Amino acid sequence: MQPWQLRSMDDYRAAYRRAQEDPEGFWGEIASTFSWHTQWSRVCASDLGTGEISWFSGARLNITENALDRHVRTQPHKTALIWEPADPAQPARRFTYSELLAQVCRTAHMLQRLGVQKGDRVTIYLPMVPELLFCTLACARLGAVHSVVFAGFSSESLATRIADTKSATVVTADGMRRGDRVFSLKPAVDAALRDMPQCPVTKVITLDTKTTELPAPSARDVSWAQAIEGCPAEFAAVSCDSEDPLFILYTSGSTGSPKGIVHTQAGYMVWVAYTFANVFQVDESSIHWCTADLGWITGHSYIAYAPLLLGTTTMMFEGVPTWPNASRLWQAVERHSVTHFYTAPTLIRSLQACDESLVASSNRSSLKVLGTVGEPINASAWQWYFEVVGNSRCPVVDTWWQTETGGIMIAPLAGLSPLRPTYAGLPLPGVLPMLVDDNGREVADTSASGNLCISRPWPGMMRTIFGNFERFLNGYLRPFPGHYFSGDGAMRDVDGLYRVTGRVDDVLNVSGHRLGTAEIENAINKHPALVESAVVGIPDAVTGQSVFAFVVIDNAPGTNEERGRATTPSGNILLAEVQAEVTKHIGALAKPRQVIAVSGLPKTRSGKIMRRILRAIALGESDSLGDTSTLINPEVVTAIVAAVKQAKGAGTV
Ligand code: WT7
Repeated sequence: MQPWQLRSMDDYRAAYRRAQEDPEGFWGEIASTFSWHTQWSRVCASDLGTGEISWFSGARLNITENALDRHVRTQPHKTALIWEPADPAQPARRFTYSELLAQVCRTAHMLQRLGVQKGDRVTIYLPMVPELLFCTLACARLGAVHSVVFAGFSSESLATRIADTKSATVVTADGMRRGDRVFSLKPAVDAALRDMPQCPVTKVITLDTKTTELPAPSARDVSWAQAIEGCPAEFAAVSCDSEDPLFILYTSGSTGSPKGIVHTQAGYMVWVAYTFANVFQVDESSIHWCTADLGWITGHSYIAYAPLLLGTTTMMFEGVPTWPNASRLWQAVERHSVTHFYTAPTLIRSLQACDESLVASSNRSSLKVLGTVGEPINASAWQWYFEVVGNSRCPVVDTWWQTETGGIMIAPLAGLSPLRPTYAGLPLPGVLPMLVDDNGREVADTSASGNLCISRPWPGMMRTIFGNFERFLNGYLRPFPGHYFSGDGAMRDVDGLYRVTGRVDDVLNVSGHRLGTAEIENAINKHPALVESAVVGIPDAVTGQSVFAFVVIDNAPGTNEERGRATTPSGNILLAEVQAEVTKHIGALAKPRQVIAVSGLPKTRSGKIMRRILRAIALGESDSLGDTSTLINPEVVTAIVAAVKQAKGAGTV
């Protein structure tokens, strides 16, 4: 139990006040419960005006000593990791703290032997196998910067991320299992590197999981099994500066290519541990299962780092929630006596749609706390989660945060805070939320809504966008000068509780995955028969939003012949081709559910696509399109309305 664990709402209020009035004293005391090589000279030297953010300046540490060695000293035989395989007939694998440390050390040796040094970037493209965790922590052990790429991203997405980080080392596997299907990964890496100009990669380490056939190796290929052979189980942790980068994780913005969000060592460590202990109210007997993939920030913070920093047991699941059937998760909860369960609303809704007996047939009496993250949760999903999954026994913590914030920002404290369905609730100590109107003025009333900003730096905040500090300033700190802008809209009620309503920028949230409209449009536009496109998000009962694409077909005479096809694609063929294009350039997670061909897109004088109008048309709300007088081409609106009506009539959208 940590001395800074909040045990009551009075504790919370006192901590909140202290963090506001004396942030350096507050965070300094919390940080002093971790192990350091050198003490800091200054707790916080950060300025949201200039974007210069520094916490625990001058200190030196290694995060893996805090996550592993510390616990090996006191509880070496405690289970650190439970790995639940995709196939429920296979046994789970368990690693104690001392075994996990040994695995991480051996992996660190392997990376070092293959040339990885402190500060180098390592791209990790692995499925949810234990080696994914070993490799991630091994990077941290030797001070290398991990860039984990979700294995569901396409080889082109992988290529962009490898090129942006200039990784010399890529770690991958033969393939991965998804339910009863298998997908290959190594060929995707080979394809990513094949066409890359000035390819930085000199070593590709491949783990053979015996899932798919491995292609013939080339000179830069190394087998994990061979490379790790003989690597010792001890590796002296490399001393890092508090502000050395720990990892880069890519996420989508409203414009341009994905942004490499950079987190650093000390502030991130303190933030994820503090937020995890208090929001989830874990102790050393907790068995925590976060169903995210390690390739997302939720996995980094609340599968890998926070649970291990606190000496709890963390669980990794290789499979999918609906295979072999929709009771898979609850059976695994029962099998491993999971106490803390953390997932996304989209998954709750998809399981809610299944027969309730699939939940009821499992014993879930071990559960203590249920968490949700990734998108706004609707009242009915919240109630189902609380009543059916938790038997009205377990508090539901709706946690609001982002890749950029490193850890949870606004959430109830399990068992302490009053719960209000659909509300994330109160900010954590050190988080000063602020609602701002579109003109940049603070909305000071208690009960209000506006753009959600944070007006003080906090230890776990992002430090920059990799290689692009200007983009960091422009995206986050300049829209409302002096404050961090989240890109979300929020409401605050009379009690000061926050409800985050969703993005206010051109970012979509499909199944809790963040997708940039520009990114999807760029992918669609690569289709040879299309001139341009616009995508909007429309509400979906299970996935939160789904992607609806408007595409303009190139009808210039001769174009079809030139492209070697007789006709212009339409209807379901068009849909399939556009989906294939998006899957190729980004990944299946971004593919549009609906595609409609139109003659033109509504644009302002400055050439900006009016997505607001397109969204209203897609929703069949063409009577309330609002002001269209600022368009340079108002006539296209009527044509688009007609096209959508016709397609709906024909059943193609
Ligand atoms: C965006 C961040 C944070 C880990 C998972 C997603 C939305 C996240 C909530 C919540 C309403 C939420 C926001 C945010 N979001 N949690 N509890 N209630 N919206 O991380 O991919 O960086 O996405 O997810 O829109 O900006 P991410």
